[in-house]
Amino acid sequence: MNIDFYERIWMWTAGAIVVLFLTFVGATTFGQGIHPPSHVETIDPTKVFQDPRFSRVGTPTELPDGTIEVQVAALMFAFVPNEIRVPPGRRIRFRMTSADVTHGFIVAGTNANTMIVPGYISQFTTVFDKPGDYLVMCHEFCGNGHHAMHGRIVVDAGATIAKAEATAHGGVH
Ligand code: CUA
Repeated sequence: MNIDFYERIWMWTAGAIVVLFLTFVGATTFGQGIHPPSHVETIDPTKVFQDPRFSRVGTPTELPDGTIEVQVAALMFAFVPNEIRVPPGRRIRFRMTSADVTHGFIVAGTNANTMIVPGYISQFTTVFDKPGDYLVMCHEFCGNGHHAMHGRIVVDAGATIAKAEATAHGGVH
């Protein structure tokens, strides 16, 4: 079969682009551990408020490594807690799950953004550099009250943070 010279160039170019993209994806996935925040930790969505991993909803808690864990439950049509107070310049680990349908969690003006899928725990860690009021919105359509589902994060050096012992699963009780 005769393949035109220019056709041959583009075939090799297309092949090289695919290899390049797979290399980037592989390097970020395995080298830097970058993956969606809706990861593989599962939970019974009907028992969120009985689950020990969500026993501190509403109480930001400092882990032994200095990270502050914030547990959030999402349900139609609110975030629990509705207002979260954390200090600036600290690592804040959000651990969130849904008690009903799929919700979203985006902190306006930051890159903190995840889906909250029932049955799974979404987790990400971020740092708020500047004190202030941050609007939190649900960005997955979750029903008739979706547009009203919002909360607030107050970044304030005086925020009260509890202390907790570490547990085997990495969360706090
Ligand atoms: Cu929850 Cu939209």
